[in-house]
Amino acid sequence: MVEITSPLLVASVLPADFAELGSQVRMIEKAGVDRIQWDVMDGCFVPNITIGPDVIAACRDQVDMGFEAHLMVADPDPMLSRWVEAGCGIVIVHAETTRHLHRTLGRIRELGARAGVALNPATPLAAVEHVLELVDLLLVMTVNPGFGGQSYIAGMEPKITAARAEIDRRGLEIELEVDGGIGASTIGAAARAGARVFCAGSALFDGPGRMADRVLAMRTAAEREIA
Ligand code: DX5
Repeated sequence: MVEITSPLLVASVLPADFAELGSQVRMIEKAGVDRIQWDVMDGCFVPNITIGPDVIAACRDQVDMGFEAHLMVADPDPMLSRWVEAGCGIVIVHAETTRHLHRTLGRIRELGARAGVALNPATPLAAVEHVLELVDLLLVMTVNPGFGGQSYIAGMEPKITAARAEIDRRGLEIELEVDGGIGASTIGAAARAGARVFCAGSALFDGPGRMADRVLAMRTAAEREIA
């Protein structure tokens, strides 16, 4: 089993300037971020509406970095292939939105992408207990999904720790990602809890200095806890 020891930083583009997405993703790549997360929201599963696959496809050739689609949508199954065709190497569905999660995760892999599953704060780890063999990325939400700029829910740390323990106990190669309120002041606690992949939006886009400086500060804070 290859365990991720160095933290991966993922940029949520929700806070990006949507009028300049091409230059924004180039800036993110230049700043040293490892992957981009596209927050897909349908106004049904979450009270916000964002982008579709065509927007992701339009940005695909602007950068070389990986794309993950975070599907905060009530019914992800009908459009699974569209996110892969748009250039996403990882497709993340919410455990709360699929009637047949085992089948959906297998379908994502059949499409040639890595399969991710996200858990809302109220959803127990047990929701994915019987499908972890089909999971390449487990996303533990540290906010209630729908908007950026919310506060990190530290109460999710026991779930992160339990997920880390279960992944390690089974010897699975699953990326354990956290998303929501992640920044220089919270990334250390999430890393201590067992997360190794950190998705941030406002902490990367907002604040003094350059994005590259904020990337370095977050990476350093996470590495300090992982070492
Ligand atoms: C929330 C999204 C998150 C959000 C992160 O629904 O899934 O990715 O954009 O934004 P921050 O880092 O500002 O909490």
